[in-house]
Amino acid sequence: MKKVSLFAGILAFAFVCNAYAEIKPEHDPIKPRVPPDKIAAVKAMKPPFQATPAIIAEGKALFDGKATCFMCHGNDGKGKGVGAESLTKVGPRNFTNPQFHKVKSCGEMFWVAANGTKGDFSKKDAPTHPQGTGMVNYLIGHNSELGLPGTPTVTKDELWKIVLYERSLGGGKCE
Ligand code: HEC
Repeated sequence: MKKVSLFAGILAFAFVCNAYAEIKPEHDPIKPRVPPDKIAAVKAMKPPFQATPAIIAEGKALFDGKATCFMCHGNDGKGKGVGAESLTKVGPRNFTNPQFHKVKSCGEMFWVAANGTKGDFSKKDAPTHPQGTGMVNYLIGHNSELGLPGTPTVTKDELWKIVLYERSLGGGKCE
């Protein structure tokens, strides 16, 4: 009897671990994540930099460093970072998919990183964010509510550099 309950315990533990390690699928990469009333203006936004190798390298250093994007999007940008496991609704975007970059503009990427998407950052044991919340704190008065310990603050220019790096992962340009 003892043996059976130990086995059941191990099974239950394995199940919990497995449930935790599962990352939710991403939203359809083709569908806009910016609200319809804003999409035209957002699509027209352009980065203040050319995608030179130096700028892309700066973006990568921020992505893998202080901006902590790698936590969810993964160091390879495929959306399988350790932080992704705690998101209960939707998985992070895979930036290596060229199809995504064909359809989405850099402005949309910038806007979503700054503003988030409605309700998608619900986490276990954390309040939901029905109005949407950014993935990063950027600019004064524009704080992410993600509440990840040490959510970083980046400037607008830094966020554009990160977008240019994310873009390069799928062979996309911003023109
Ligand atoms: C807590 C986990 C998390 C972190 C940290 C995070 N992201 Fe995300 N990201 C997501 C999720 C989840 C999505 C998918 C949201 C959706 O589809 O609604 C996403 C989607 C995106 C998208 C896709 C937008 C689109 O139109 O589909 C961009 C761009 C993005 N993130 C940029 C960033 C940047 C830049 C950083 C770092 C500053 C970052 N993310 C950090 C979870 C995260």
